Amino acid sequence: MKTNMNNRFERLLTPGTIGKLHIKNRIVMPPMVRNYATPDGLVSKRLVDHYATIARGGVGLVIVEATNITPQGKGFYQQLGICTDGSITGLSFLAESIKEWGAKVAIQIHHAGRQTTSSVTGTEVVAPSAIPCPVQMEVPRELTTREVADLVEAHVRAVTRARAAGFDAVEIHGAHGYIVNQFLSPVTNRRTDKYGGDLEERMAFALEIIERVKEETGADFPLIFRMNGDDFVEDGLTIEDARKIAERLVAAGVDALHVTGGMYETILNPRCTSAFGLSSMYVPGGALVGLAEEIKKVVSVPVITVGGISPEMGEEILRHGRADFIAIGRGLLVDPQLPNKLARGEVEDIRRCIRCNEGCIGRLFDQKEVRCAVNAEVGYEGDRLIPAHRPKRVLVIGGGVAGMEAARVAATRGHQVTLWEKSDQLGGHLVESSVPEFKADIRPYRDWLASQVRKLGVQVEMGREATAGSVQEASPDAVVVATGSCCLMAEVAGLDKPHVATAMDVLLGKTKVGDRVIVVGGGLIGSETAAYLAQQGKKVTIVEMLPEIAADVTLMSKGALMTLLAENQVEMLTDLKISEVTDTGVLAVDKEHNIRSLEADSVVLAWGLSPVTALYEELKGKVPELYMVGDCVEPRKIGEATRDGYRVGTVI
Ligand SMILES: Cc1cc2nc3c(=O)[nH]c(=O)nc-3n(C[C@H](O)[C@H](O)[C@H](O)COP(=O)(O)O)c2cc1C
Ligand code: SF4
Repeated sequence: MKTNMNNRFERLLTPGTIGKLHIKNRIVMPPMVRNYATPDGLVSKRLVDHYATIARGGVGLVIVEATNITPQGKGFYQQLGICTDGSITGLSFLAESIKEWGAKVAIQIHHAGRQTTSSVTGTEVVAPSAIPCPVQMEVPRELTTREVADLVEAHVRAVTRARAAGFDAVEIHGAHGYIVNQFLSPVTNRRTDKYGGDLEERMAFALEIIERVKEETGADFPLIFRMNGDDFVEDGLTIEDARKIAERLVAAGVDALHVTGGMYETILNPRCTSAFGLSSMYVPGGALVGLAEEIKKVVSVPVITVGGISPEMGEEILRHGRADFIAIGRGLLVDPQLPNKLARGEVEDIRRCIRCNEGCIGRLFDQKEVRCAVNAEVGYEGDRLIPAHRPKRVLVIGGGVAGMEAARVAATRGHQVTLWEKSDQLGGHLVESSVPEFKADIRPYRDWLASQVRKLGVQVEMGREATAGSVQEASPDAVVVATGSCCLMAEVAGLDKPHVATAMDVLLGKTKVGDRVIVVGGGLIGSETAAYLAQQGKKVTIVEMLPEIAADVTLMSKGALMTLLAENQVEMLTDLKISEVTDTGVLAVDKEHNIRSLEADSVVLAWGLSPVTALYEELKGKVPELYMVGDCVEPRKIGEATRDGYRVGTVI
C-alpha cells in the first residue's frame, strides 16, 4: 500500500514495535468476541473470512478475540477456544489468513471466571471468591489454592498453543472483570491464601502467569497485557492501583500494555458510560485515553489506548505522545478498509461507526453472533457481491437508509439505478434524528450513503414524489419501495389540537413548542426528543405506558441516555397511558385505572411509527419486479433498514 506524502494521518501510519515484533502501522484491532466459532470453540470458515477481510484492510496488528483457555472459562456459546492441542490446526489457519495480508496477529487468552453462567460453561462457575457477578447472578465456587496454580498452567499451555499455531504475540485478558482482573480487584478477591490480600498479593496470579509464560516461551515472544486503568465500580481498582500494577507487570516481562476499564457490573452504573471503552453516541469518544496516558508515564513499554477513538482523534493522541498504538474496534468492524483509505487519502469514503452498540455488543450480550448496524457484510464476508447477470433499470423510491443502501448495492453490482426522493434531503429518519448534537455520530452515515450512491452513478432525483402512474411511466425492470414510516396516529381524543406535534416535526424545527412539554412515548425516539428539548431549557415530562423508559435501547447505550435525561431534569412517568389531549395538557390513566391530569403547553407524539405502504400495494402486479425495504415493511432501527436494503440490493 502506497502512502501519500504529507498524509494527515502520518503518525497512525508510522511503523511501530512491540518487543521485537515489527508492526507496519499504529492501528490495532482490539480483541472482540464474534461468536462465529463452532459450538465446540473451533475456528470456522466464517471466522477466517471475517478476519481475513479485516487484515486485508491494512490494519497493523490484529488481536484475535478473547479465546477461552478451559471449558470452565467459556463466556459465550460460540466463543473461540484454545483449550486443547486439537484447536491448533484451525487456529494456525486463522493466523495464516491474517498474516498473509501483512498484518501481525496476536490472540487474547481468556477465562471468564464469575462473568459467565453454567449454561454456557456446561459446568460450575468458578472465581477467586464466591461473590456473584451482579449481571450474571450466579454464585461461583471459590477456587482452591491448588486449582489457582493449575489455572496458571492452563494459561501457559494456551500461550504455547498460540505460539505453535503461528501467532506473533499473545494478549492476556487481565481486564473487564474476567478472571485475572477478578484476582487483581478487591471487589472480587477476598481470598486469604497467597493469591489474596493487599494489592501486592492480589497481583500474585497475574505475575505468576507472566513469569511462567516467559519461562516457557523465552523473552522474545511478545506478551501484551490488557489491564483496567479503572474498574469503574465502587471500591474497585483505581488509576493509582493500575499504575502500580503496570510497573510490576512490566518488571515481570510484559512487552506492551493495553489500557481499558470496567467490569460487567459497571454497565449497571448509568454514571459510567465507557465500560470496556464502549462509549455510545451520547457521550464523547476517547474517554479512556487519560488512563492510558497515566500508565504510559510509569512504564517504558508501548501502551495501546482504546475506546471510541476516530482516526482523527488517534492521530492527535499519537502526536501528543499520550499512547503508542491506537486500537479501533467498532470502527474497523464497520470499515475494515479504514487503514488503507487513510493511507490513500480517501477519508470521505470511510464508513464510520455510529456508536449505536446495537449490532455488535448488544447482540453479543444477547448471546447472538456479532453484526453491525451500518455494514450488513459483517459476519457474512464469505458471501461476496455477485455482479448482475443482466444489468437492469432499477427504480428505488425513497432515499432513507434502506432505499440508499439498496441503491448502493444494486449499483455496485452493475445495475442502472435511479432513486426518487420526495423531500429535498436524503436520509429519511436520519435527517431529524441526527438534529440533536448528541446524535452527531449518525450524520456521517447519512452523508456516506448519499455520497456513495452518487459516486456509483445512481441518478438521484430530489423532490420527486412517486405515484403508481409515474412509476409505470418510467417502466423500470425492478422497483424497490422504500417509502418509510410516519408518526402513528392512535384513537385518542384531542390529537387535532394546535399544541400537538410529532417528534419528527419538532426535531426538524417545523413546529415550535412551549416551555412545558409532555412527550408521549418513552422509547428511543421519545427519550431522545425529550433530552433535546430539555437541553433547550424546556421543562419536559415523558409519559410512557410501559414500566420502563428506553426499553428498546441496548443496555450498553441505555445508561448514557438515562444520564442525559437525568442531567437535563426530564421527568419520567411510567405505567401511564394518555387517554385525551386537553387544552391545558393531557389526561392519562395509570395501572390502577386512576385518571391523572398533567399540565403542558405542548404535547409531542413519540409513541411509535406506522409503515407507509400505499404505493407498494398499488404497484403490486403492475411492474416486473417489486420489492419493499426498510420501515415500510415494519418500522425498526438503522440496522434492520441497512440489512433490508443490502439484501434486496443483492437479489435484484
Ligand atoms: C462485539 C464486541 C466484542 C468484544 N469482545 C472483547 C473481547 O473479546 N476482549 C476484550 O478485551 N474486549 C472486548 N471488547 C471490547 C473491545 O476490545 C474494545 O475495548 C471496545 O470495542 C472499545 O473500542 P472501540 O470503541 O474502538 O470499539 C468487545 C467489544 C465489542 C463491541
Ligand atoms: S453496530 Fe453500531 S456500534 Fe457496533 S460497530 Fe456497527 S455502527 Fe458501530
